[in-house]
Amino acid sequence: MGHLKPRYTCPLMGIQLDPELVDAIRAAESVVVMTGAGISAESGIPTFRDELTGMWENYDPEQLATPQAFERDPETVSRWYDQRRANIAKCEPNAGHQALATLERWQTKDRGRRFTLLTQNIDGLHRRAGSANVVELHGTIWRWRCTKTGREREYRHIPFPSYPPLSEDGGLLRPAVVWFGEMLPEREMMTAQRECESCDVYFSIGTSTQVFPAAGLIQLAHASGARTVEVNPETTPVSNLVDWSLRGPAGTVLPGLVERVMPPTGT
Ligand code: OAD
Repeated sequence: MGHLKPRYTCPLMGIQLDPELVDAIRAAESVVVMTGAGISAESGIPTFRDELTGMWENYDPEQLATPQAFERDPETVSRWYDQRRANIAKCEPNAGHQALATLERWQTKDRGRRFTLLTQNIDGLHRRAGSANVVELHGTIWRWRCTKTGREREYRHIPFPSYPPLSEDGGLLRPAVVWFGEMLPEREMMTAQRECESCDVYFSIGTSTQVFPAAGLIQLAHASGARTVEVNPETTPVSNLVDWSLRGPAGTVLPGLVERVMPPTGT
């Protein structure tokens, strides 16, 4: 992607989009979207690496988001994740989540084409916004796994009665999320790679593209011939490599983009 400079950076307010981007999305047989913590920022969920509010600015990921941390101190780790689960439960999908769900319905139901939403987020807000084909590469905070039997199920009751919570099998419960040093779920990763190898447009939305292998998927999409779009108020390591860099918050940029790409209702 080195030769491709951002063809268009829309001003933060007001969305004048490059017609070529609008045409590329309309022509796309297959669209892949990758989201990160930034798309949930406007729902009130902290990101990881933002200077002031980033989670990792206030907590050491090595102390909380690794198998070793859980082994060492299952009470603190499970309590921290359950607190995140309780906070997330108070948050709603924002206009960015909803715009992606609208774009997916138009692409798949109205046009019979493909749309895959890959997310690094564990908050479940894409599904709550109505997105259907969601691939949760880092798992979900709504499912917890028994460390004794490996059995996983959804837990919606908040908060757990004690920490670390116990499973019905008498083992400790851990969140069914990917921790540092763990492999991503194989089926989800294979789906992601397959879709990136055959998509026409790849969106990178609200991610600092620093955590691999998820961060490497944009390179795979580009190498396979996809046009690439970034939506982020800040620059990232791929900002100078994508075809279009839309420099703004997802909750503003995405509704504007979807409004211009989709035909006016009733046509
Ligand atoms: P980061 O916190 O690393 O990056 C969030 C990105 O969102 C930054 O580039 C922000 O500029 C951008 N951003 C902030 N507000 C935004 C908004 N309103 N609209 C659009 N973008 C916005 O979060 P991730 O890239 O998701 O993994 O982090 C990737 C992984 O690192 C996470 O899944 C997690 C973390 O450690 C694990 O815990 C395994």
